[in-house]
Amino acid sequence: MSNAIAGFSKLSQEEKINWIANTYFSNPQVAISLLKSYWNTDEKVQKLHDEFIENTISNFYIPLGIAPNFLINGEYHTIPMAIEESSVVAAASKAAKFWSTRGGFKTMVINTEKIGQVHFIFEGDALKLETFFNKIKSHFFIQTESITKNMQKRGGGILDIELKNKVNLLPNYFQLHATFDTKDSMGANFINSCLEQFAKTLKEEALLYDAFSESEKDIEVVMSILSNYVPNCIVRAEVSCPIDYLVEKHIPNPKAFAERFVRAVQIAEVEPFRAVTHNKGIMNGVDAVVLATGNDFRAVEAGIHAYASRNGTYSSLSHAKIENDIFTFWLEIPLALGTVGGLTTLHPLVKLSLEILQNPSAEELMQFVAVAGLAQNFAALRSLTTTGIQDGHMKMHLNNILNQFEATEEERHLIRKHFKHHIVSHSGVVDFIENLRKLE
Ligand code: MEV
Repeated sequence: MSNAIAGFSKLSQEEKINWIANTYFSNPQVAISLLKSYWNTDEKVQKLHDEFIENTISNFYIPLGIAPNFLINGEYHTIPMAIEESSVVAAASKAAKFWSTRGGFKTMVINTEKIGQVHFIFEGDALKLETFFNKIKSHFFIQTESITKNMQKRGGGILDIELKNKVNLLPNYFQLHATFDTKDSMGANFINSCLEQFAKTLKEEALLYDAFSESEKDIEVVMSILSNYVPNCIVRAEVSCPIDYLVEKHIPNPKAFAERFVRAVQIAEVEPFRAVTHNKGIMNGVDAVVLATGNDFRAVEAGIHAYASRNGTYSSLSHAKIENDIFTFWLEIPLALGTVGGLTTLHPLVKLSLEILQNPSAEELMQFVAVAGLAQNFAALRSLTTTGIQDGHMKMHLNNILNQFEATEEERHLIRKHFKHHIVSHSGVVDFIENLRKLE
């Protein structure tokens, strides 16, 4: 049977499943049963999921966990996290508990500006283009009124539109660079609709502009799209306490710990190989909350990593210092998030996650996400600079191995008891299970 197919999207879901099962599986029935076993038993919920994307054949589960005890700006919160990696939720919860007795997390939204651009080619006199732009600038606002009306009622809208000359980068390349306030929505549809109207206005007005030559009138719009780079949509999260307060079981010498911690952050600030892994740890927290709340983690990832490189070298998103015997650890990240529209009103578990967060505004959600990132980073660095991460990590990994081997309760008990006092390694656990089973 050929692996290529014409008109796949037109097939019914049943036909799609049959095709995939018959094309790629020696036992199609097993594959079909597996796919269907992940369908939601409530047909309405399944239909909802079917329609999120195209060619849906099943659901792909990711666990939803919760990390309680986050003291943020004086109030306790529980943070929902959708993530498949073991240890992450435990680490977040541990960091939350640790900081809850040391002043908690302090957060602040610094700004909330979103960006969109119309990229176009203008072959002509740049000064004339500027005069033209200034003359018709108000038309961009007027002609998008039907799109911006509702957003304006909510206090948002288009903030500004600038003409940018980029001919030093590419011949005849210009932009309309627009900034937006999209309030509690992520705003992608709103921004893109405005931009497409700007592009239309730009082309139409150019045709009517007498000072342009025939070739100048013929503006070529290449594309109109929002930017996921939002360096003016920044949230800050911070923890701090007197060094002596850092003391606990794994931190017998808080001064030495704080100094080593700061050094670990400094390494991530100057060394890209480390910075990437350091920031990956931050993203463990960030992505998990972004996903649980129905936001676009690809957009967030792209924007954050661009921000991490804003000075020309990829660097740490978090920073730490000791000043007057006070340890301070903080991060600032760009986050374009929404708590209305999109998946937030459609996905039942997204709604539930938002409810756990007490139905936050987009600005409040930015703060929760930043806190999750900082907590994760703190937990990772605390382990790395004290016990090393494998200790805790492999204990969590043990569970995955036990599940993989479908260990019985009795086997689990014996294995956990043994590995309390032995280093956990994948092969070590597998050998132990196999030996146990040989004895049975
Ligand atoms: C693992 O998912 C994340 C860490 O590697 C982050 C770090 O190294 O800082 C532990």
